[in-house]
Amino acid sequence: MNPFSRSLLKFSAVLSLSVAAIAYSPSLYAAKGQAKAKSACNSNLELDQDLIQAVTFLIGGGKPSFLAPAVVKKLESISELAPGGLSNPENLDVILEALRARVSFVQFDQALGLQLKGVRHALNSTGVKDRFVGPDHLDTFRAWGWLLLSREDPIFSDPQFLADMMRQTGQTGGGSFIHGDPSYAEHQFQATWEQLSPDTRVPRVFTVTGTDANLYAYEIAKAVARERLKNPKLKDAEVLYFDGIYGGGRGRMNSIHYGEPEFKIESPHTKKWNPQDPVENARLDQAERDALQQIESKITRSRVPIGAFLLESVRTAHGVGFYRPDFLAKVSELCHRHGVAVIADEIMTGGGRTGKFFAYENYLGFKPDFVTFGKGLQVAGITITKESEFGQAYGRVTGGPVTLLQHTETLLKSAYIMRRIRTGNLMQNAVDMGRYLVETFKSVDHWSQISGLGLVLASERGERFLPTLSITKEQADGLRDKWK
Ligand SMILES: Cc1ncc(COP(=O)(O)O)c(C=O)c1O
Repeated sequence: MNPFSRSLLKFSAVLSLSVAAIAYSPSLYAAKGQAKAKSACNSNLELDQDLIQAVTFLIGGGKPSFLAPAVVKKLESISELAPGGLSNPENLDVILEALRARVSFVQFDQALGLQLKGVRHALNSTGVKDRFVGPDHLDTFRAWGWLLLSREDPIFSDPQFLADMMRQTGQTGGGSFIHGDPSYAEHQFQATWEQLSPDTRVPRVFTVTGTDANLYAYEIAKAVARERLKNPKLKDAEVLYFDGIYGGGRGRMNSIHYGEPEFKIESPHTKKWNPQDPVENARLDQAERDALQQIESKITRSRVPIGAFLLESVRTAHGVGFYRPDFLAKVSELCHRHGVAVIADEIMTGGGRTGKFFAYENYLGFKPDFVTFGKGLQVAGITITKESEFGQAYGRVTGGPVTLLQHTETLLKSAYIMRRIRTGNLMQNAVDMGRYLVETFKSVDHWSQISGLGLVLASERGERFLPTLSITKEQADGLRDKWK
């Protein structure tokens, strides 16, 4: 753990205490008689981008010497610092504490909370007691979904795994999935994938990030629209999407993230899986009708041909959100009627978190054509469902002898992770433990309204909670007791 993460750990532990406790915490330099000096510092503080980036950079272990002098000056003006300036890890406590005191909770939470949320809640419960201290705890409760298995999972120290990984290192990657003759790693990946996702083809192309996988949506839209309109020279086609999806952080996915209204559909999602509240259901009846109308009207009237619809069947961008199964079935039916492909973004949800390998499998009648995946599977990419009629478009988009399809080590690691999920019955554990967590967290103030599906969970305030699939009752109880 880098010094600043350690420092954050301390800070987070402090956050979990009352404000009064913060003021008297011996771990805070700020509380050691510095109050006077602090008041002389910048009190009209704005959480601007420079500041947010600098603080998250430091939390991530970045060296202060890489920061621009003006930014360093700004950080130093926030509060009176202990000797050593930004190189002294204690001072990150001081800065975070000062920020926390000067800006509103909402501001703090929106700006820094996004980065800190998952780690913070994990650390809150580890800060003082020893039971969950260590990387396993952090991995278990991290909110970004990078890990389906804890880093401490026994498979990662299994001699067979280590020997296999070493054997792969040094082999070239390449395009054998497309051109035959799969390598050992590809073969392992293929065999495991087929067992877990019999409805989709084994992916042919892989991407470095989930964003890149989603960016394929535009390529697919073009290929689909070219075929539909019998115009191989068609220059552009568009993708529809529900508002508020994440999509990704770069390129056109970034604008999806912020929502270009022209191709955005108001999303009729709800916070609870299978909602029973009649008032909520009445709202959804109307919202779904509106959404279907919007989709049809955009497909038929858009100035640019629409080739694809990108959606998250279980939404994870602002808390957790669900659709009613009938509605998603109608969406795929409508899109297919108009020759538009449906792409399910499973980057956060794929790998078994919802109790099914892909979240879309929870929706009977909903038939996506393409599936994007990434994050916890350790490898990102796009594949097509076996039932889809857009195989030709898929072939066009994913063919070609590209430089490197994927590092063989990554594929092999992914194969091992998937195999562990299958042999450890971890998807069933996700279902059981999801229920258990919802029940047991009823006694925890901030998390009493936790809801979700399987282990894709969120608090009432929208903080994501994505435990690793092997979480045990003992860990859940420990967490409950510490978060109380
Ligand atoms: C639902 C969803 N789609 C796309 C992405 C983008 O993936 P990446 O961050 O790997 O680019 C994410 C990332 O968290 C995501 O949660």
